[in-house]
Amino acid sequence: MVERFAVVDVIREKRDRGVLSPEQIDWVIDAYVRGVVAEEQMSALAMAIFLNGMTDAEIVRWTDAMIRSGERMDFSALDRPTVDKHSTGGVGDKITLPLVPVVAACGAAVPQLSGRGLGHTGGTLDKLESIPGWRAGLTTEEMFHVLQTVGGVICAAGPGLAPADKKLYALRDVTATVESIPLIASSIMSKKIAEGAGGLVLDVKTGSGAFMSDPLQARKLAETMVRIGTDSGVRTRALITAMDVPLGLMVGNALEVQESVAVLSGGGPADIIELTITLAREMLDLAGITDIDPADTLRDGTALDVWNQMISAQGGDPKAALPVARCSHQVLAGSTGVLTELNALKVGVAAWRLGAGRARKEDPVSAGAGIQLHAKPGDQVAAGAPLLTLYTDDESRFEGALAALADATAIGPIGTEVTRLPLVIEKIN
Ligand code: URA
Repeated sequence: MVERFAVVDVIREKRDRGVLSPEQIDWVIDAYVRGVVAEEQMSALAMAIFLNGMTDAEIVRWTDAMIRSGERMDFSALDRPTVDKHSTGGVGDKITLPLVPVVAACGAAVPQLSGRGLGHTGGTLDKLESIPGWRAGLTTEEMFHVLQTVGGVICAAGPGLAPADKKLYALRDVTATVESIPLIASSIMSKKIAEGAGGLVLDVKTGSGAFMSDPLQARKLAETMVRIGTDSGVRTRALITAMDVPLGLMVGNALEVQESVAVLSGGGPADIIELTITLAREMLDLAGITDIDPADTLRDGTALDVWNQMISAQGGDPKAALPVARCSHQVLAGSTGVLTELNALKVGVAAWRLGAGRARKEDPVSAGAGIQLHAKPGDQVAAGAPLLTLYTDDESRFEGALAALADATAIGPIGTEVTRLPLVIEKIN
């Protein structure tokens, strides 16, 4: 087969701050998936994009070419509108777990294709896999069946969904080209658009525990993704939300499932409830369902019913006891006062070192490992009272986790005013 372009010309164009043509973009993505463009050539192109950026038109075309590298799911035969959400990831961010049943209980279908965690932010599938028997892998037919009968499904994306992104994301991970707005936006949106939902709400995190710690960069990423989604015919909205402090009081796989079930049962921490309901309202609005208050589904048990059905439909036992780590260690408050700091990144890294996360894709995670927070910034604490409880299956991990937590917390005198980012910082339509 005679190739349309020479890859070095495409790389040179971007290296010299040029604009790639639609034909060049279509070709380079396709040729990369076919193996004609070598990994080292795509590395050079990714670095040129990282350094020199892309125009909006280039980003939209790049995303579209990645979608076309695989299958696009179609849920139009369902009897309900479909809507999904994506979070850019954060510490203690278990919102998908209560959110999917809440939205499904209100009458929308939520096809949520999730990933596993890498680094300090956890993955939704790792969390759900702590439930005895639950399996992440479903065929498209099984996914459709669960969506039709239960209304919500959370499962692993199959190999056919945006395969160009799968290859490129693995390459970016090892070539220091992850933190690029055009590359992140196209990567996330190619998968979300290929997933086929009619509406999409993006939860773009900012703060110490987020990918985009700078709020201006987070806004730029959100605006870029909303534009890509809208251009592709998916009703898309974004919320920029706080990730300076972990969400909720539990960080770790089984611990986060436990907290999510508490929320679905009508209890749980206020920030998890608020973010779940805020995102649910946006999703339902995009789905055209405006006559139901999603908060009612937490009070009347209908969201918990959907959760139980959703877990059972994927082989899980929603009533089974969750795994508990073998060892625990408490970090105590050194003085009486007000907790002024609880650094999300440091808590995330510590939970990861306790075994809740993985360093390489193929590593196992510990279901019981993680951290329970006993106070959040602004709360009063007493000298000697527990601030954090660390859980692990391997006692030797405490040392590394405690090192990560050095300076993660600070206590000020009683009466200290603590200013925190608002939970929802901005909405991008
Ligand atoms: N998540 C993705 O799917 N892709 C990125 O590039 C970053 C986060």
